[in-house]
Amino acid sequence: MTRFSKTGYILSTAGSAIGLGGIWGFPYLVGQNGGFAFVLVFVLAFLVFGVSVFIVEMLFGRASGQNSVSTFENFAPKHLKFLKYGGFMVISGVLIFAFYVVVLGWLVHYMFLSIIGLPKTLETTQNLWGGFISNQIGWQMLWHFTIVALCAYVLNRGVKAGIEKLNLILMPLLLFIFLGLLAYSMTQDAFVESFKFLFHPNFEKINAEVIVRAIGQAFFSLSLGVGVILVYSNSMPKHGNFVRFAIVIALLNFFFCLVAGLVIFTFIFGYGAEPTEGVGLVFISLPLIFANMGVVGQVIAFLFFVSLIFAGVTSAVSMLEPLNSYLIERFSMKRHKANLISILSAYALGIIALLSNTATFSADLTFFDKNLFDWFVYLTSSFMLPLAGVFMCLYMGWILPKEQVYAMLEGKLGGIFFKSWYFVIRFIAPLGILAAMVNLI
Ligand code: TRP
Repeated sequence: MTRFSKTGYILSTAGSAIGLGGIWGFPYLVGQNGGFAFVLVFVLAFLVFGVSVFIVEMLFGRASGQNSVSTFENFAPKHLKFLKYGGFMVISGVLIFAFYVVVLGWLVHYMFLSIIGLPKTLETTQNLWGGFISNQIGWQMLWHFTIVALCAYVLNRGVKAGIEKLNLILMPLLLFIFLGLLAYSMTQDAFVESFKFLFHPNFEKINAEVIVRAIGQAFFSLSLGVGVILVYSNSMPKHGNFVRFAIVIALLNFFFCLVAGLVIFTFIFGYGAEPTEGVGLVFISLPLIFANMGVVGQVIAFLFFVSLIFAGVTSAVSMLEPLNSYLIERFSMKRHKANLISILSAYALGIIALLSNTATFSADLTFFDKNLFDWFVYLTSSFMLPLAGVFMCLYMGWILPKEQVYAMLEGKLGGIFFKSWYFVIRFIAPLGILAAMVNLI
């Protein structure tokens, strides 16, 4: 089996984790939930929940060396064979890919618009976005196709020559652009305000809901519950402290979220805009600010969209790998055939999601007040991912014998650290994730 190199594993897994969810979800949540209070809770959620569940998924993948369906099958005791159905999570990857890549297509469009010139008033910016999303089917399909084709190409080349290579190139570039944006923000007056906002302690804002939202965000942001970490860990380098890998990946992810927050708030505060949510933030508030900053704004807008595209593409390629490895191992398929099946299904679902936002098709593709795009988002992030997370924790914490779990850790986690982790995955993590899920429903 071709394995990731150590750097390749860390960057590819971090590449999967660092994506649109973290970069634009985190600043919004911070804005809504009182700045530093949320940052603090988020760090704890990341380190306690995130890293613990991450290790669970990693261990399953490393110990089995197989796709998620076979993994859950092989570890199941004789009388509990139904546990193999935990492998359903490979479907989540396809559904996430479907809507995620549509968003990447929008970003490509805006990257080009940033070169041509973005509109300068709120009204024209809003109209541009509204018109694009509901009427410009051709452009959306073109960019959507472009990204899908790129992912197909990378995935066809396999783990080492495809996924690892892509991440070895894009992740350092992403870091570079982010540091550049951060350096520019630091020269702005509003940076101080942005910094204070993110680091000023205002503990009275911490309540149960904030904690639960932080857990949900940490979970989604680390790409857990899809089987991505599991299959990537199949090809983890043989040696090396994988518990340390988990911590490094979580910290890298947190670092990117934080820098994104600092940069975005500098612009938002500098221009007196409101910290808004995902799509409104990225396609309306920020472009409007950039457009009014002259040439510098144009460069920043371009780099901003490019960085989001890089972050997103490295996440997108990971989403189909669980299904790919299932098809390859279970049906002895060649990689390109397995990949064709997963790409085509995700592409078709993506087109449906894309069309469900448009004026012409939205009525036909809306069910119970939600169009299919929103349904895909909702079903995966509010149900399938958290359920899979709870499933894996309970499986490892309650079904597998403690000695077996201990052995799977290969001596990388011992003493009090093992005890605490084991306690977290048996009790705290399942309850926390369930609470996050109920809150999202
Ligand atoms: N972590 C990704 C982000 O923040 C989103 C994501 C969630 C994901 N689950 C995933 C990406 C599974 C890849 C695979 O954008």
